[in-house]
Amino acid sequence: MKQGLVRIGLLAMMVSACGGGAEFSDEAEIGSVLVESLGCVACHGAPNGVGPSWDGVWGTVRNLSDGSTVVFDGAYVRASISRPEEQTVKGFDLVMPAFSLDEVDLDAIVAFLEESS
Ligand code: HEC
Repeated sequence: MKQGLVRIGLLAMMVSACGGGAEFSDEAEIGSVLVESLGCVACHGAPNGVGPSWDGVWGTVRNLSDGSTVVFDGAYVRASISRPEEQTVKGFDLVMPAFSLDEVDLDAIVAFLEESS
């Protein structure tokens, strides 16, 4: 009986350690590592940075420099990463380089942006 309780306690500790406090899925965790290692956060990590901040952007309407609007969703994020020249956010210069990432990495970054913003 006692042993069983100890085991449950250990399991609870392990589960909370894995979560690391953030409520991200595994995919989003990978995405968060990618945006660090690919240098995205250098431009997107802070308000008033070179690129638009990612704070609270998911699902919002973005104004583009050609006067059109687009919803910040998975398709838009994928296009922004692969072909930044096609849609430029109003008020920002087109300085973002295109990244050619595979589908798994794109999914992970999309998951991270959806869960973190
Ligand atoms: C050299 C700076 C720079 C880097 C590095 C960079 N970006 Fe950007 N990004 C920008 C700028 C500037 C814009 C706004 C102009 C535009 O839309 O192209 C932008 C736009 C975006 C948008 C649309 C944002 C919005 O608010 O509507 C997304 C999504 C995005 N970037 C994702 C990424 C990801 C993911 C990476 C890394 C793989 C990355 N960016 C790397 C500068 C950068």
